[in-house]
Amino acid sequence: MSDPAQPDLSVRVGSLALHNPLFAASGCYGYGLEYADVADRDELGGFVTKSLSLEPWKGNAPPRLAEVSPGLLNSIGLANMGVESFAREVAPQVTGGRAKLIVSVACNVMEEYEQVIVRLEEVPGIDGYELNISCPNVEEGGMAFSRNPAVTEELVARVRKRTRRWISAKLTPNVASIVEGAQAAEAGGADALSLINTIVGMAVDWKTRRPRLATITGGYSGPPIKPVALAKVWEGYNAVNIPIVGIGGIANWKDVVEFLIAGASAVQIGTALYADPALPGKIAADLRRFMEVEGVASLSELTGSLDTGHGVTVGVPA
Ligand SMILES: Cc1cc2nc3c(=O)[nH]c(=O)nc-3n(C[C@H](O)[C@H](O)[C@H](O)COP(=O)(O)O)c2cc1C
Repeated sequence: MSDPAQPDLSVRVGSLALHNPLFAASGCYGYGLEYADVADRDELGGFVTKSLSLEPWKGNAPPRLAEVSPGLLNSIGLANMGVESFAREVAPQVTGGRAKLIVSVACNVMEEYEQVIVRLEEVPGIDGYELNISCPNVEEGGMAFSRNPAVTEELVARVRKRTRRWISAKLTPNVASIVEGAQAAEAGGADALSLINTIVGMAVDWKTRRPRLATITGGYSGPPIKPVALAKVWEGYNAVNIPIVGIGGIANWKDVVEFLIAGASAVQIGTALYADPALPGKIAADLRRFMEVEGVASLSELTGSLDTGHGVTVGVPA
């Protein structure tokens, strides 16, 4: 029960109702159990699991994490336990809480996305799916699914036929414009978009002249990607009528408010959780103070409220 004396942080992302706008981002919160000793999962509005594939994946060879200053580079390669172990062993332990459970799915080919969803549909208590379509599509020579709008639309449409649960499409930012991919996901029947995944980056050890990741390039995340993410959220917000979940470099309450103003209905926190797994609870408390001080009655009134300086403030999509 929410305390009537406290500002209400609840938001809706389409059909998904959250008690606050803060998700843990995929790959930064394990399967929802890993941080149980150090953080209260229920302080999150929701959490997105590590991306799951049909079979377990080992991921890439090490080194696959490099701290760069500032930010993080990773080439984990979607190492995961596979859908079956998650469904049988983990899901019963992470369903039923206050935080919504969103299962992330990443596969090499379209059929496998469908197969994973079909298996997950048998598991009670899952609130929705995030389709990680930023990952390589083996049938298109390893190009990310979401770099091809036609593939994006078909994939989302195929998954849509398999489930009535909430679906968000997580798109790659490694494109000139997010608009075509965003519209394709909407046309395929996505309930929301998750923007953004990591940005391609690279780190070099000047002394040894070696790359710091075994895969040479990897995914860049953390505070420096925030301006890119904000731009993609804004572009997406103006291109589609489905809600957007903003992701990229979020580390404090001001970041959250900025993403909402740019067009997000909720946000995800990724890299910052590695430094402080209890951060979402602290940000939630800060957001309550912000609402009190600024007289904000509902966080959803911020969504898309960017004042463009031309006397035009774009409103919440209908
Ligand atoms: C170590 C690591 C692993 C990640 N694994 C996944 C993953 O399995 N699936 C996915 O969709 N995104 C994954 N991501 C991307 C994050 O969910 C997020 O989109 C990205 O890191 C940007 O947010 P941030 O700057 O707050 O970290 C991963 C990120 C990191 C740092």
